[in-house]
Amino acid sequence: MKIAVYPGSFDPITNGHLDIIKRASKVFDKVIVSILVNSSKTPCFEMEERRALIERVMGDLPNVEVDCFEGLLVNYVRKKGAHVIIKGLRAISDFEYEFQMALANTKIAPDIETLFMMTNQEYSYLSSSIVKELASLGGSLEGLVPDEIMQDIIDKVREHEERLKKR
Ligand code: COA
Repeated sequence: MKIAVYPGSFDPITNGHLDIIKRASKVFDKVIVSILVNSSKTPCFEMEERRALIERVMGDLPNVEVDCFEGLLVNYVRKKGAHVIIKGLRAISDFEYEFQMALANTKIAPDIETLFMMTNQEYSYLSSSIVKELASLGGSLEGLVPDEIMQDIIDKVREHEERLKKR
C-alpha cells in the first residue's frame, strides 16, 4: 500500500491545501494529512480545532486520514508506515526553504522521499496567514477556504485577537 504524509501547520486549512490533498489522494492509496508543530510559528487554532476543520471538509475522500503529531516529521512518517512526504510549492520563493527541509529530512532519513506538487495557479498567492489577516480585517474569504468552515474561521480569528488584546 502506497501511503503518503502531507504535513503542515494548517492554521487553518485553505483551498490551496485542499487542492493538494485531493490531487494526492488520486496518486496514493492513502494520504495522511498531519498537523505538526512548526516551532517558528505561534498558532491561532488549537491542534484539535485544526483537525476538526480539516475533517469537516474531507467528507468524500475515503482514502484520506487526518492526524496530529508533535515531534520529528520523519519519525512520524516511519511510524505510519509511509515512505513519502508531500509538500506543495506555490512559487519560486518557496523553493529554497522547502529544498533545505527536504535535504535535512533526507539526511536523517534516506529511505523517505519528499515529493513536491505544484500548487494550483489559482492559489499560488494563498497562505494561512493571508486568510487570518483577511478574517481579522473584515475581508472576504470567498473562494479561499471551504464555505462550510468559513464562519468558524472568522469567529476563531476574531476571538483569538480579542484574547490577545486583553492580555
Ligand atoms: N496552498 C495554500 N497555502 C499553502 C500551500 C498551498 N498548497 N502550501 C503551503 N501553504 C502555506 C501554508 O498555509 C503556510 O502558510 P503560513 O506560513 O501563513 O502558515 C505556508 O504556506 C508555509 O507552508 P509550509 O512550508 O508547509 O509550512 P507549515 O508551517 O505549514 O508546515 C511543518 C511546516 C509543520 C511541516 C514543519 O515545520 C515540520 O516538519 N515540523 C515538524 C518538526 C520537524 O520534523 N522539523 C525538522 C524538519 S528538517
